[in-house]
Amino acid sequence: MTMEGNQNEIQAAGAVILLFGATGDLARRKLFPAFYALYREGKLAENFAIVGLARRQRTNEEFRQDVLDSIKEFARYKVDNDDNWERFADHFEYMPLDTNNVEGFRQLNELTGQLDRKFGIEGNRLIYLALAPELFGTVAHNLKAGGILESAGWNRLVIEKPFGYDLPSAEKLNEELSGVFREEEIYRIDHYLGKEMVQNIEVLRFANAFFEPLWNNKHIANIQITLSETVGVEERGGYYDHSGALRDMGQNHMLQMVTMMAMEPPSRMHPEDIRDEKVKVLRSLRLYEDTADVQGNVVRGQYAEGQSKGKELPAYRNEDKVNPESVTETYFAARIMVDNFRWAGVPFYVRTGKRLPVKTTEVVVEFKNMPENVYFAQKTDLKPNLLVFRVNPLEGIYLKMNAKRPGSEWSIVPIAMDFCQSCQIGINTPEAYERLIYDAARGDSTYFTRWDEVKLAWTFIDRIASGWAQDQSDLKFYPAGSWGPEAADKLLHQDGFHWWPVNGQDESEVVWVPATS
Ligand code: BG6
Repeated sequence: MTMEGNQNEIQAAGAVILLFGATGDLARRKLFPAFYALYREGKLAENFAIVGLARRQRTNEEFRQDVLDSIKEFARYKVDNDDNWERFADHFEYMPLDTNNVEGFRQLNELTGQLDRKFGIEGNRLIYLALAPELFGTVAHNLKAGGILESAGWNRLVIEKPFGYDLPSAEKLNEELSGVFREEEIYRIDHYLGKEMVQNIEVLRFANAFFEPLWNNKHIANIQITLSETVGVEERGGYYDHSGALRDMGQNHMLQMVTMMAMEPPSRMHPEDIRDEKVKVLRSLRLYEDTADVQGNVVRGQYAEGQSKGKELPAYRNEDKVNPESVTETYFAARIMVDNFRWAGVPFYVRTGKRLPVKTTEVVVEFKNMPENVYFAQKTDLKPNLLVFRVNPLEGIYLKMNAKRPGSEWSIVPIAMDFCQSCQIGINTPEAYERLIYDAARGDSTYFTRWDEVKLAWTFIDRIASGWAQDQSDLKFYPAGSWGPEAADKLLHQDGFHWWPVNGQDESEVVWVPATS
């Protein structure tokens, strides 16, 4: 078969992949398409097998049809050749499994042994739990009891978020898992760490002479991180009403983005060295002291009825499986301070929410203004330099500077350099899940969260949650389709800043410098 990937990348070692939650939404939307792309690119060799596991009865044929349907709908590679498809599908098996039943795990162990022999696999097991976290502990226990972890090769456990609901529940979960797996065998997924441009933050920071020397409180005024979504809670009301934006996006994706922006250069690009540096950032986060401190630095909101593109949108409280009197936040914004030598005094403003006007993930670095000295004696209205990491939906870098208006004497205008990476390579950008599955299969844990990161993240988030629990009067309602509560704007105005428009909106005054390849 032709291989479409970069042939310099190495193939993952062969393994039997045990996919728990194989009939679920994540498997259908993300995991099957990711396996297929890895296969098409030759990153998964022929010596692998995937066992789909779920409670539901399904034949192998039905399961393979599920996989095919998912790939047709969601994969970036289309099935264009029946032989290729048959070869790929032959690696998939299905087994119904009640996760409480140890006997089922023993049968699974027999099946994995047969698959080892069929595909020449040396006992490696990649166990993927796309399951409700309440089941993680039981599954881990029964994997051990069923003998599945005793084969000759390595064992790796990949788990989806949420990792707990707060620090005590995360600690309990971690204890259950660490009774069965060593920390280095546990791969906690944060899919934002698999995104191309999130990974690129490190490279852009550490491989460019003109960023790193300025990367500190002498030159940076503030950093703004926006993770906005247009969707509501869809069919996930039951989960979301219990979680809210703080736990759903803040504890994981948002704080991970903060660490990527704030970390010190690691001494070596090794997984543990990188993760050590991220832990130091989390340890430096200033914890909010009490409810007043939380309310002074964190804004929470919930979407009310509204409109987007002429469509009426329901209020959060009217969504399916949501308590009609819910006080769960669907939006939050915060001023986060990283109390270390590099970042003292530089606010990190973060915001995330459902039912906002655009879907975007963006990080804006706002530099301090140059002094408007005698050189600019005329009124110039100098704008700050901005460096923008565009993570989603566009992927690229945007740099905003000041220059002389062409043909004028001293008139200064903002100019922009816009490098749109996704416009140039389009479909070739691997999805986050492809990278992460590939990394786990190669034993590279760089872009997975280590237990000490999770623990510190919960320590920070729990302070907000407990402040909120004391007094709910600060919950603000915002119309669906708007940019959230006004209080989030005030948070920046208090410091003399404002949110920069995302996705290049409102850039009418900018003179564009065309992107070059
Ligand atoms: C998930 C959250 O982790 O991230 C969802 O549970 C959210 O609520 C999703 O919609 C956003 O991910 P992405 O990759 O679409 O930005």
